[in-house]
Amino acid sequence: MDEIQKTGPLQGEITIPGDKSISHRAVMFGSLARGKTRIRGFLQGADCLSTISCFEKMGIEISNTPDEIVINGQGLHGLKSPPDTLYTGNSGTTTRLISGILSGQNFSTRLTGDESICKRPMDRVIEPLSQMGASIRSEGGNGCTPLLISPSALHGIDYASPVASAQIKSAILLAGLYADGQTSVTEPVLSRNHTELMLRSFGARVDSHANTAVVIPGDELHAQDITVPGDISSAAYFIAAALLVPGSEIIIKNVGINETRAGILEVVRAMGADIQYLNRSDNAGEPVADLLVRHSSLHAAVVEGSLIPTLIDEIPIIAVMAAFADGETVIRDAAELKVKESDRIFTVTENLRLLGADAVPTGDGMIIRGGRPLHGGSLDSYKDHRIAMSFAVAALMCEGTVSIKDADCVNISYPTFYEDLNKLRKK
Ligand code: S3P
Repeated sequence: MDEIQKTGPLQGEITIPGDKSISHRAVMFGSLARGKTRIRGFLQGADCLSTISCFEKMGIEISNTPDEIVINGQGLHGLKSPPDTLYTGNSGTTTRLISGILSGQNFSTRLTGDESICKRPMDRVIEPLSQMGASIRSEGGNGCTPLLISPSALHGIDYASPVASAQIKSAILLAGLYADGQTSVTEPVLSRNHTELMLRSFGARVDSHANTAVVIPGDELHAQDITVPGDISSAAYFIAAALLVPGSEIIIKNVGINETRAGILEVVRAMGADIQYLNRSDNAGEPVADLLVRHSSLHAAVVEGSLIPTLIDEIPIIAVMAAFADGETVIRDAAELKVKESDRIFTVTENLRLLGADAVPTGDGMIIRGGRPLHGGSLDSYKDHRIAMSFAVAALMCEGTVSIKDADCVNISYPTFYEDLNKLRKK
């Protein structure tokens, strides 16, 4: 769908696909564990399929059926030299986490991805992995992929990360599984902790306190049965749509609400949202709930500081909500937005502006003065899945048709996004 019109109320129930971050990690850790790991609720998005294909290329048997993924893990030292370059597609998580794993192998690899990945900074993992003794370099010398990784002995380090990034933290912890001693990563603000939780459930020795995660190598990983919760980053589009469109009331089932990921719930509540948690449960350390969301009149908020890493991927949709909220929303401390699948400070404010909103980019975020009626327009997703989905939601509230270029990039994290949105519109 690339042309979207204003909608009437959204109603009904929706079950959103599995969490992208957790799906990647389940395949990676399952491949490094001994025995058969079974994954239910796996996200069949292009990014997670890139992770599967990388591990298949390294000799891991993975069966992918609609019901479950089964990974025949070969242990920490069971990967085989791939026949050619590993291709990570559009996936930053695959590229950065696998760099940590590859640094500990006894074979060389070349790693690359699509046009967008080849522009994203990889020096943020090259630097700490090199400190651990890894032989890893950017082929073009520009700190980006292709990366060349060769066998080398790793030692433990205590790394103070300059940015709060779960991808950096995870790359280092995974390399730490192959080091000769303990490795720790301290972040300025805690980022999502799925790696720590899941590595622990696979039997690795991982401790966390405050903003520091520590891995002590030496233990084998053991296969697990994993049920992946629904992705709160995907739920975010439906939360926003139901809050914005008058008369809406929806239930979003089985959403992961890990507190290192759930900042969006805090922000929309501060904006005046009517959201209730139903059926809370715990799934191997990952809390889950159904969300009942009703249309609410929203007001502006300040989004900053330690909240930012807990909602970094939701900032585009928060900005869309802010454009329809009363007052001035300020988003700051979010310079990381510039190095996502697109420069999201630019792509969000530019698209909002094209719809008639008052949105101003800043060095580390944006300022949005909400409440203007928005009109239709021709937008570019910049092949960034989160931009496409955010502006598909904005379109539901615009007077006039919104068209979105390369709208099919939602395949990266949510292949059935437009169908699911339409189901709620029809009722
Ligand atoms: C992710 C971490 C975040 C996030 C990305 C997924 C992960 O990136 O933006 O979509 O699965 O670890 P950073 O860790 O670089 O902020």
